[in-house]
Amino acid sequence: MTKCFRSHVTLGAALLLAGAMSFAQDGAATYKAKCAMCHGPAGTPSAGMQKAMGIKPVSDPSMRTLTESQIAATVKNGQGKMKPVTGLTDAQVKDVAAYFKTLK
Ligand code: HEC
Repeated sequence: MTKCFRSHVTLGAALLLAGAMSFAQDGAATYKAKCAMCHGPAGTPSAGMQKAMGIKPVSDPSMRTLTESQIAATVKNGQGKMKPVTGLTDAQVKDVAAYFKTLK
C-alpha cells in the first residue's frame, strides 16, 4: 500500500464538502467526510463519544490489530453500535480502511 496520502491540504475542504461523494476520492477525504464525526479528526474520538458510544481510539490495542480487510468489513457491514457506512464505492472503502490503518 502506498503511503502517498495527500491529506492535510484537502482536509478543510473535505469537511466543507462532506457528503459530496464525487469529491471524497482518497482515503483521507473519505475519512473526514464519513468517519471523523464519530472517530475524531485523527482517530481519537472525543471523550463523550468514547463514553456514549463505546468507540475506541485507534491507539487502543484492539484497534491496532485490525487488518485492513476487517476495517473494510466494518465499514460495509457495520459492527455493534456502528451502522454500515453507506454511499461509498468499494475502492473508497478500501482507501479509507488503508487510511484508518495509518492513523496513530
Ligand atoms: C455514527 C458514528 C460512526 C461513524 C460515522 C463511523 N463509525 Fe466506526 N465505530 C462507531 C462505533 C460506535 C464503533 C464501536 C462499535 C462497537 O463495537 O459497538 C465503531 C467501531 C469502528 C471500528 C472497530 C471495529 C472493530 O472490529 O472493533 C472501526 C475499524 C471503525 N469503526 C471504522 C470506521 C470507519 C473507517 C468509518 C468511516 C468510513 C467509521 N468507522 C464511521 C461509530 C461510527
